[in-house]
Amino acid sequence: MASHLPEEAAQPSLSEELRAATRQKHHALNGHIITRLPLCMPPHTNSPISYAKGMTVFSQIYLAFEELLAMHQAFSNERMRVIYDGIYIPQLLRTKRLGNDIALLKSRLPQKEVEELGVLDKQSKVFSWRIRDSLARRPHVMLAYTWTMYLALFNGGRWIRRQLASAGSHFWRGEVPPLSFWDFGVVDQDNLDEDQLKTALKAKFGEAASHLTDDERGDVVDETNRLFDLCSEMVDFLDQGASVNCPIKGSTSRFSPSKKSHHHQGAHRNLQDLHDLRIRVAQNNRKHTE
Ligand code: HEM
Repeated sequence: MASHLPEEAAQPSLSEELRAATRQKHHALNGHIITRLPLCMPPHTNSPISYAKGMTVFSQIYLAFEELLAMHQAFSNERMRVIYDGIYIPQLLRTKRLGNDIALLKSRLPQKEVEELGVLDKQSKVFSWRIRDSLARRPHVMLAYTWTMYLALFNGGRWIRRQLASAGSHFWRGEVPPLSFWDFGVVDQDNLDEDQLKTALKAKFGEAASHLTDDERGDVVDETNRLFDLCSEMVDFLDQGASVNCPIKGSTSRFSPSKKSHHHQGAHRNLQDLHDLRIRVAQNNRKHTE
């Protein structure tokens, strides 16, 4: 009806809606990451093992959704194929880069730590199963993943990349830093620089979103909220792992760190880390509420 037109025209874009819906969660997560990043780097540590653990866990998100994104042409549902085709941007894909970075990191770590990473990888598969399950049930929520996980790289990710790169080749134990994940390559096949890539992503996202029904759009908003929660859960998971110098070998249990911490070698040092970290988190929280 004509009288409804002004209201309909005023509907925010999905991107704006997602930004508004996740503002608080983003703010909290942002704080969590800012306080923890220094713990992975000099002068706090001389080893890239904590960074490797973080990447092992967070990579689960990209591995899970990009696996399905790669199947974009296989959809028999025409509308879904249009949506997936629209947001499939090869230059954005992170899976290969993550694999390369983690392999490079492992090649520079002692065997014992490589094994710890293997255990952590198995344990954190629970996150990727959750994502795969969600996408299998509601493929349209793919938009939540592409919006959140790629735009994160173009914003906070740039800042994180600068911090990590500043650690230098001594810390990374080689001339080539294992940081290709954070990089889109200034020159790519279409000669797009990062800002152009970000603009292209936003435009393609907007176009793909225009094919969603109202219910599906609501699902994307919900899934984006859940994804921010999942990221926070990953931070918690890493905090717990950090307190026990990585979870017990062979264990497949989730988040049961308190039992593991006491008798584990290196627990004292790691409890100190955790203590430092809590202080930083508390300081950071204070900063945000003042
Ligand atoms: C896993 C962690 C994070 C996720 C998933 C995430 C996700 C996002 C997303 C989806 C956006 C929206 C982009 C847009 O609407 O254009 C964004 C914006 C932004 N993020 Fe993050 N982010 C994370 C961590 C961080 C961190 C650690 C920082 C700080 C260093 C940060 C700083 C920013 C800034 C400055 C913006 C731009 C805000 C704006 O344009 O309104 N983010 N992030």
